Order: sequence, then C-alpha cells, then structure tokens
Amino acid sequence: MKIALIGGGNMGEAMLAAVLAKSLAQPASISVSDVSRERLDHLKKRYAVTVTPRNPEAVSGKEIIILAVKPQNLPEVMAELKGKIESSQLVLSIIAGAKINTISGGLNHDAVVRAMPNTPARVGEGMSVWTATRAVTKEQKQAAKSILGAMGKELYVEDEAYLDMATAVSGSGPAYFFLMVEALVDAAVEIGLPPDTAQELVLQTMLGSGKFIQSSGEAPAELRKKVTSPGGTTAAALRQFEKGGFSELVRRAVRAAYKRARELGN
Ligand SMILES: NC(=O)c1ccc[n+]([C@@H]2O[C@H](COP(=O)([O-])OP(=O)(O)OC[C@H]3O[C@@H](n4cnc5c(N)ncnc54)[C@H](OP(=O)(O)O)[C@@H]3O)[C@@H](O)[C@H]2O)c1
Repeated sequence: MKIALIGGGNMGEAMLAAVLAKSLAQPASISVSDVSRERLDHLKKRYAVTVTPRNPEAVSGKEIIILAVKPQNLPEVMAELKGKIESSQLVLSIIAGAKINTISGGLNHDAVVRAMPNTPARVGEGMSVWTATRAVTKEQKQAAKSILGAMGKELYVEDEAYLDMATAVSGSGPAYFFLMVEALVDAAVEIGLPPDTAQELVLQTMLGSGKFIQSSGEAPAELRKKVTSPGGTTAAALRQFEKGGFSELVRRAVRAAYKRARELGN
C-alpha cells in the first residue's frame, strides 16, 4: 500500500506505527508531511519513512491519503491539495468534526472515508467508527478497514450521523474513563491506601472488569447484580452512586459531547 500521511502528530504517528507493525505498507512507500520539522525528523528516524514539509509532494503517486491534521488546519491543507489528488486516490480523514461534504467539496474529490478513532489506538486497542462515500471502491474500503483495524477494532457504518454519536461515546470515552480512574484513586488514597497501591488496584480492577465484561457475554447490569450482595459493601457504594444521580450525570455528559460534536461539524 502506498500511503501519504498529512499531519504526523499524535494520531498520525499512531496510525503510522500500526500500519508498519501489521506490514500493511513498507516504510519506503509511506510519505509523511507536517509543518513541524521536529516531527518529521522524529518520524524519519523512528520509522524510516519518507518525509517532506510539502503536502502536495507527499500525496503524489500514493493510493491512500490520510488527513490527520487538527480541524483548524484543515482549510489550509485542502487549499494546498485541491486539484492535486487523482480520482483513483482515496482520502481517509480522521479529523474530528470534519464532514464528508466539507472534505469532498474542499478537495474537489469524491472518494472519501471519514473515520473517528480514539486514543487507545496508540496501544493497538483503539475503537474506530468509519463511513465512506459511494465513490469509494470495494478495494479501497478493504484498505481503509485494514488500516483502521491495525489500530484496534473498527466498525463500518452506513450513516455519517453515527460518527458524531461515536465521537461522544468512543472518541471522548477514554477521557471519561481517565476521570473515573482519577476519582477512584483519589478516593482510595483518602481512605488510607498509599498512592502507588491505589493506582495499581484501580487500574487492574478497571482493566480486569473490562476484559471480564467482554468475555462473559453477560449484560453489564447482570454482572453488577451478581457482585452486589444485599446489605454488603458494594451495595453500600452503589446506593451512593444512585443518590448522586450517577446514570443521569453520564447521560448529560454524553449528550453535551454529542451536541458539541454536531456544532463543530457545522
Ligand atoms: N488524539 C486523538 O485521540 C484523536 C482521536 C480522534 C480523532 N483525532 C483527530 O486526529 C487529528 C490529529 O490529532 P492529533 O492529536 O494527532 O493532533 P496533533 O498531534 O496536533 O497533530 C497534527 C499535526 O499536524 C501538523 N500540521 C499543522 N498544520 C499542518 C499543515 N498545514 N500541513 C501539515 N501538517 C500540519 C501539526 O503541526 P503543529 O503542531 O506544528 O501545528 C501536528 O504535527 C485531529 O483532527 C483530531 O481531531 C484525534
């Protein structure tokens, strides 16, 4: 696969590392462009890919063009690349909030995949939700699927509207989890556990519970009931979560993220 990566920042590097780790492309067939010389030097040294500060140079002769710049830099990137992309090339954007119509119109290009990955992609445990325009061929869809699949799980959806919903759930989700870990560690320290021990206990409990829920095939509510004996310690804690309106709070948080995702796309 011949790939151009426009924007070699955090997410761009995660994609690059994943694609190379899965041998989907050879370093020599990947060109990375970025405005930061420091990023380019780092990526060249670490992955032996071709680097350039010029976006049009990176896309020339490539099959897939990955757009991984920040949303505010998209207009300048599109202005530079407009008219430089062949109809046979696939544009794969991971830019949060950037609608297919915006990308397609800004580049005057029909074959576009829009994806929403998340940060755990950096350790191969990402969740990417993606969709494609009608102009994207079966082979191109397969290529997009394998690139996103290299970073963890991927899910194709027909309707682009699901991407804003995914942004509020899997895109922002890692931060919700980090907040929960933070709060649990603070609470554990407050009742007397040493910070390192608290962190270890919390992380392993979260990871273990995540794996357990995934492998058991049971509904989360069922698992929760099974570990909650009447009158026991878990029941005492859950009563406080309920009193504090935990579920409603989570609903409000997700609705706010979803609203913001739609605003950013307009
Ligand atoms: N991080 C995540 O978990 C995540 C999840 C889902 C989607 N995304 C999306 O992924 C995209 C990249 O995020 P990120 O966290 O990787 O951002 P980032 O670390 O800031 O990476 C973007 C890179 O693009 C460079 N750049 C800026 N203007 C450019 C231009 N005109 N041409 C070429 N390169 C340019 C930036 O350089 P400077 O820093 O010098 O400006 C930076 O190195 C964003 O659109 C974000 O919405 C990220």
